Amino acid sequence: MTESVSTTEPQIHKGLAGVVVDTTRISKVNPESNSLLYRGYPVQELAARCSFEEVAYLLWHGDLPTSTQLAEFEQTERAGRQLLPNVKAAIDLLPLTAHPMDVCRTAASVIGASHPAAEDSSPAANQRKSVDLFAAMPAVVAYDQRRRRGQDAVPARSDLGYSANFLFMAFGEEAAPEVVTAFNVSMILYAEHSFNASTFTARVITSTLADLHSAVTGAIGALKGALHGGANEAVMHTFEEILAQADGQDLSGHVATWLQDALAAKKKIMGFGHRVYKNGDSRVPTMKAALDDMVKHYNRPDLGELYDALESGMAQAKNIKPNLDYPAGPTYHLMGFDTATFTPLFVASRIVGWTAHIMEQLEANSLIRPLSLYNGPEERHLP
Ligand code: ACO
Repeated sequence: MTESVSTTEPQIHKGLAGVVVDTTRISKVNPESNSLLYRGYPVQELAARCSFEEVAYLLWHGDLPTSTQLAEFEQTERAGRQLLPNVKAAIDLLPLTAHPMDVCRTAASVIGASHPAAEDSSPAANQRKSVDLFAAMPAVVAYDQRRRRGQDAVPARSDLGYSANFLFMAFGEEAAPEVVTAFNVSMILYAEHSFNASTFTARVITSTLADLHSAVTGAIGALKGALHGGANEAVMHTFEEILAQADGQDLSGHVATWLQDALAAKKKIMGFGHRVYKNGDSRVPTMKAALDDMVKHYNRPDLGELYDALESGMAQAKNIKPNLDYPAGPTYHLMGFDTATFTPLFVASRIVGWTAHIMEQLEANSLIRPLSLYNGPEERHLP
């Protein structure tokens, strides 16, 4: 069956580059001014002054919460933090060879299938499901890392904020305030970024009227790829490779050689470049400042040196700037997370953006179903 709707040759927008597919009120990415607004607020201001919980509320509801609204939201979120027995059992069934993103994807699906409002996609049910998933995912990510280290799950603490509790569940001890601040900043910066690949995936799935957890599960699959969220993990592999080669000697020199070889082999350098920002990612300066704080806190100037050397090498060789994953990877490494857990941290944060978009899509839904231009064999028949 041909999909052609016109006799003139259709224009193909490979990768949907430059195509505007819908409107959104949730965030505005402006590559010209290098800025990112969440519901009108510059993300840098939010990262400097707000908790991740406040920003989540803003992204879902359109305005920052009043103190009463925040207290009510925090109460619901804190009550939903524990790892449910059926979710833990499902995680335990997965082999330790499974990537932590596969664990997240499975957990999101199990959480959805067992949600009391599983088949209810009303605005109220979806709002509740979003908060429940937001509350539940940190325990999944933290437990999965712990089981890989041969450690037991750490029960959630309801006396701590989201970020402090996340770190507590991951490491079994309270993190220093500076570390909590840097983690909070990373969660805010990762929370939302308009029609990126995983968010668009969530909107496509939602457009079929599938449920919220199906859309989030698909979005997690899209985020796993190295061209998207998987890049924060890939950045750390690059850093580890260079650090191992340098072995404490002439780090900058090793960076230059590594980069020259990688570019000569036509490799993509993970953590650099962006489909929308061509002149630098608006989130990088804020995340880099958080990384600088962590480099100081953990006394790892070598990581700072490596970061700067690779950034300036890429600027010189290709004029390509870092994206958010570049400073986020080493920041999570310094905090003590396993490299394979970095993208699941991104998931925990981006649940907010995905679910905000799922709810927005449903407000004025239209099935997302583009056309394709057939270029296979002409009609033929069996002999
Ligand atoms: N390293 C080396 N070269 C690069 C890089 C990079 N990281 N990024 C772009 N280029 C080059 C390409 O090779 C291409 O060169 P050419 O024209 O000589 O062939 C040119 O720049 C354009 O690159 P495209 O891949 O066509 O640009 P696109 O807009 O499709 O890609 C993307 C954007 C996928 C992010 C790309 O820059 C990339 O692969 N980066 C590495 C992966 C990464 O860091 N992803 C994280 C994205 S941000 C996020 O998810 C938070």
